[in-house]
Amino acid sequence: MRRRTAAMFFCAVALVGAAAAASARPAERPAPAQPGERPAAAQPAPGFAPIRIETTHVALVFTVGADGSLYQSWLGPRLADTAEYAAGPAPRHEAFIGAGLSDLAEPAITVTHADGNPSLDLRYVRHEVTGNETVIYLKDSVYPFTVALHFKTFADQDVTETWTEIRHSEKKVVTIEEVASSVLHFDGPGYHLTEFHGGYASEMQMEESPLENGVRILDSKLGTRPDMYQAPFFMLSLDGPAREENGPVLAGTLAWTGNFRFLFDVDERHSLRVVSGINPYRSPVTLEPGRAFTTPPFIFTYTTNGKGQASRNLHHWAARYGIMDGDQPRLTPLNNWEATHTGFDEQKLVGLFDGAVRLGLDLFLLDDGWFGDKYPRDNDKAGLGDWMENPRKLPDGLGYLVREADKKGLRFGIWLEPEMVNPASELYHAHPDWILRLPNRPEQYQRNQLVLDLCNPAVQEYVYHVVHDLLQRDTGIAYIKWDCNRPMTDAWSPFLGEHQGSLYIDYTHGFYNVLARLRKEYPHLPMMLCAGGGGRTDYGALRYFTEFWPSDNTDALERVFIQWGYSCFFPAFSICAHVTSMGRESLKFRTDVAMMDKLGYDIQVDRLTPEELTFSANAVRTYRRLSPLIGWGDLYRLVSPYEEHRAALMYVDSTRTHAVVFAYTLQTRHQEFFYRVPLRGLDPSGRYRVKEINLAPGTHSVNPDDDKVFSGDFLMKAGLQLTPGRINPATSWVYDITTEND
Ligand code: GLA
Repeated sequence: MRRRTAAMFFCAVALVGAAAAASARPAERPAPAQPGERPAAAQPAPGFAPIRIETTHVALVFTVGADGSLYQSWLGPRLADTAEYAAGPAPRHEAFIGAGLSDLAEPAITVTHADGNPSLDLRYVRHEVTGNETVIYLKDSVYPFTVALHFKTFADQDVTETWTEIRHSEKKVVTIEEVASSVLHFDGPGYHLTEFHGGYASEMQMEESPLENGVRILDSKLGTRPDMYQAPFFMLSLDGPAREENGPVLAGTLAWTGNFRFLFDVDERHSLRVVSGINPYRSPVTLEPGRAFTTPPFIFTYTTNGKGQASRNLHHWAARYGIMDGDQPRLTPLNNWEATHTGFDEQKLVGLFDGAVRLGLDLFLLDDGWFGDKYPRDNDKAGLGDWMENPRKLPDGLGYLVREADKKGLRFGIWLEPEMVNPASELYHAHPDWILRLPNRPEQYQRNQLVLDLCNPAVQEYVYHVVHDLLQRDTGIAYIKWDCNRPMTDAWSPFLGEHQGSLYIDYTHGFYNVLARLRKEYPHLPMMLCAGGGGRTDYGALRYFTEFWPSDNTDALERVFIQWGYSCFFPAFSICAHVTSMGRESLKFRTDVAMMDKLGYDIQVDRLTPEELTFSANAVRTYRRLSPLIGWGDLYRLVSPYEEHRAALMYVDSTRTHAVVFAYTLQTRHQEFFYRVPLRGLDPSGRYRVKEINLAPGTHSVNPDDDKVFSGDFLMKAGLQLTPGRINPATSWVYDITTEND
């Protein structure tokens, strides 16, 4: 690992006076000292007060050079004395680099002007601050082409959203080959990148590696199910491998349900620039004069308190701003997918309602298989596109199920996959021009299905009506699981004809158009975002969804890793976790894993023994009591499953009077020894009773600390033996930690 002094973590620049320097715009940019070298540092423009974009603990500072260009001069903790932002080296990180000039590292924006000129020379014009939003306007030195950099800060959560807006008034269309939502510059001694990758049923596997010289890209080209292999999240540590509770970490994500790209470019001076935005892969934007193109927001948080604080910042931001109805309680469902697949009928379903009642759940979620008449959905080969009830399975329609559920005090929800079509469907035959597929080539199926052309407004109208008409007809439908089971491959839009360049971007906008329209009419309908597991999990879509399905892999051992990964970016109330029959772990282990996020069930309740049923019903009751703490509390990840053969995490409420700890052993070895684990986030002067809960039927706690009272100081310094006794693989513990008023 490269080592440089801590003083070089953040680039700084001389602060200058208050007057803006925009009008005095010299033509000369700083020249390279030697041919082939990067441009030298710029002189700050005289009289220019740096632009400070600040949250409670963090500052992103820009200054304008004497050359009129905009420079990032600081990204790091806020300084007590703003004048000291001036104490560092002269600015040399141009904030938003246009391609085609002397800076040959990765550009922020590449355009071809109406006259064919392939360069962009952006100079500062002015900036505006309105409430929590700062907009910095840049303009080409010659062409009537402007770029507005937007920064919206969420001070309490130390989160910033940043995006770019482009306009021009050239004589003809300008082609934008690529444009970033954000470019951030760093000077640190040891960049380490944590990425989240995987595949179907192995989502969000965390992997950390050093960033060395050169370019590293995390991206997706999959369109509809963009995160199937690489998820749109990263954590960047600046001083070696990221630590959980200390050290400088930036966590970033793009709020975009489509192709994304994060590009990390370490140059010969070991400076890092991170360019984040829509993946330019086959996505040139042709922009008419007078029109605007706006990128999706890049969302980031920066902290000097490690990955844990970065996650907590994002969780609190998401609950208030990032996820639909993020401050509302969630429903606790019985889903029927793993229990029945498509093999059910009306009576069987009504019979399952009783199981939901016995467990004390409040929602029955009917999954795939309820639709299709001429092409019944009895497996995944047919029916997608024909969203009417299968009359053989559901002769009395969805309305009957809604009413029967209601009689039992349950709400009723359904699964939909409205963007897709099976060739074996009436829709496929009625609207061949609504399907994305290449001319002159055979259709390529994944899960026997094709993607509809949401670039086409007629298809958007159709998808809107699939949902709207169902909700109008059966007004009792109280929940939707919106699935999307294939990525875009072999894509060609009949609607776009010769202008295929905008396919990927238009598709995502088409998706958002439909959701925005639905949300106007059904603003609070809970909706689960799903894509063959977690293939489409991002903050662009979660503006419209209340929660998401993280993975079809519900084996609880695997789920510890998968849910751990998601916890880096998402609050527990949004991460659906169902107790199922997958895997060989005990019911208690499966329950304890599901309870650390948003609990639900997908299990054949009538196969549970009376003891198991009692245990589960108690667990649901316990979860109801604890769900405000789990869903909205402060998460502290205590022991990572990537570092030990166990995992532990805890949630603490905002008053530090109540906490819950979850601990799991994984694939332990014979006689493996585990240390006590210091807790976090408690009040050192508080006194807390530790009580093991969720005990398996007929068992009692073997933890010698059970039901004892300790100070917060002790619990956070000496810790608790969270995994006591003889350690078997896949064993779990839940501890309720409450304030003792003695
Ligand atoms: C996807 C989802 C599952 C289930 C099936 C139904 O795989 O992730 O939860 O809904 O589709 O076909």
